[in-house]
Amino acid sequence: MKEISVKKKQKLYEGKAKIVFETDNEDYYIQEFKDDATALDGKKKGKIKAKGVLNNQISGQLFSYLESYHVPTHFVKHMSDNSMVIKKLDMIPVEVVMRNIATGSLVKRYGVKEGKELEHPILEFYLKDDAKHDPLINEDHILSFEHANEEEIKQIKRFTQKINAVLKSYFIRRNMLLVDFKLEFGRNKLGKISLGDEISPDTCRFWDVVSGEKMDKDRFRQDLGNVEAAYKEVHSRVFN
Ligand code: TMP
Ligand code: ASP
Repeated sequence: MKEISVKKKQKLYEGKAKIVFETDNEDYYIQEFKDDATALDGKKKGKIKAKGVLNNQISGQLFSYLESYHVPTHFVKHMSDNSMVIKKLDMIPVEVVMRNIATGSLVKRYGVKEGKELEHPILEFYLKDDAKHDPLINEDHILSFEHANEEEIKQIKRFTQKINAVLKSYFIRRNMLLVDFKLEFGRNKLGKISLGDEISPDTCRFWDVVSGEKMDKDRFRQDLGNVEAAYKEVHSRVFN
């Protein structure tokens, strides 16, 4: 499986932080991570030096780690410093957010106290639609709009809870609090739910256990400075 060799073909899709390419093998794509960073539905734009390389390596490492816990992901192998070979998935246009500590839009929307450790982790669904500002949705929206069926939603929730448990302890051993994160799922060629997209400081919030410092894209969103250093530090701890 890991010996597969693929050749990069034409660009299929360019997102804000990644580009997906077709390959000469119909089962695989190549996903390339960009240094570009956006926030506020793309209204705020910038670059984070070396982010593409760092996020590619961090994501690959976390996907492999999750696979060892029997969470299926689209990761196959690294292709280059800033790209990986991935299995083709039929993506579900829903962003799944899991929260352990209150911050970000949860605080804005519900008025919970910033930094409050949540008694029970909160799983939320958002429709992946920048033009509509990724609105918060529930399971009925997903069913009614036919984005996924009941069994698939159950599976997505089970995987998300498991990923939270596995990654929370992975990061705490590295002196980082996994505050919240966003996942995207799709169906593999057998129709099974698999984890896609990326897991990186672009899509997670990490707070240093000792200093409480933010070590993720909030540094860019909130103009806190030292953005590149934070991504590098996450990378070094992930590979420790
Ligand atoms: P939020 O508090 O802004 O809703 O973000 C929750 C989590 O989801 C946080 O870890 C950042 C991540 N996220 C993305 O990956 N993409 C997005 O477009 C947004 C808004 C959040
Ligand atoms: N990625 C989203 C955007 O570009 C939002 C975010 O991550 O804050 O708007």
